[in-house]
Amino acid sequence: MGTYAITGSASGMGYHTAQKLRARGHTVIGVDLHDAEVIADLSTPRGRQTAADEVLAAAGGVLDGAVLAAGLGPGAGNRLIAEVNFLGVVEPLTAWRPALAAADRAKVVVLASNSTTTVPAVPRRTVDALLAHDTDRAVRSIRLLGSNGSALMYSASKTAVSRWVRRQAVTPAWAGAGIRLNALAPGAIMTPLLETQLASPREGAAVRRFPIPVGGFGDPGQLADWICFMLSDSADFLCGSIIFVDGGTDAFFRTDDWPRTLPLRRLPGYLWRFARGPGHA
Ligand code: NAI
Repeated sequence: MGTYAITGSASGMGYHTAQKLRARGHTVIGVDLHDAEVIADLSTPRGRQTAADEVLAAAGGVLDGAVLAAGLGPGAGNRLIAEVNFLGVVEPLTAWRPALAAADRAKVVVLASNSTTTVPAVPRRTVDALLAHDTDRAVRSIRLLGSNGSALMYSASKTAVSRWVRRQAVTPAWAGAGIRLNALAPGAIMTPLLETQLASPREGAAVRRFPIPVGGFGDPGQLADWICFMLSDSADFLCGSIIFVDGGTDAFFRTDDWPRTLPLRRLPGYLWRFARGPGHA
């Protein structure tokens, strides 16, 4: 049986994942603002440090997996979104990496979102600022965009965290150390986060109008099944993937955008990576 850290374990997809893992006999160290083994506010540097330290202490320095599900939806305020959805993922995860490497075949699932590919005009500078861990610059970069800024910051935070996953996953420190790092990109899933959005007249109307080819909203228990699968031994060969489970919205909007063959101008970088290889830990 394994030991798993789950942020956002008190609600929604994090809660359902924790329940399923516990039912299978695993130990779950939940991290949340309330109703969790570790109470920590991931919007502050101190809270993120508490989450990092207390999980490592509770796990005894060995983690079989982690799920980074704590997150805030559009409407929460740009700074909070940047702090929780980006730094609240990458800082604890970076601190837990040695404990994940100490386990046999550890798996990590980061909760991204299909807003990464379906929300238009997300400023690249915001994503870059987040990847540089500069939340002040990220907030400034979006300040003039008015009431739409929050949706853009949400999408930017999920794009940044997805890029971070893809960049880190393939390196000697992660893949080479036996850790499988991947992300799940859900569409609209019926959780308290979505309920809050639906309750707001402006946001709710936008969410209801958003095209979902299969119809309806996703079920958090089903998403938890995907997460549990991505934590299982069956996912040994999954590395740096962003798995969309969104009722078809990404395929609807971005039909021919992906997979995309490598453009000629990218060939030098490709050949350089080809010659160098992924390396080992
Ligand atoms: P939820 O609102 O049901 O649960 C999120 C949990 O994160 C809550 O327990 C909350 O207390 C915790 N949290 C929020 N701020 C925190 C903080 N500062 N410190 C510690 N914990 C904090 O949300 P849901 O829907 O289960 O979302 C899980 C993840 O999936 C989030 O990252 C969200 O952005 C993402 N997602 C959700 C979608 C949806 O439609 N529900 C769609 C796409 C992505």
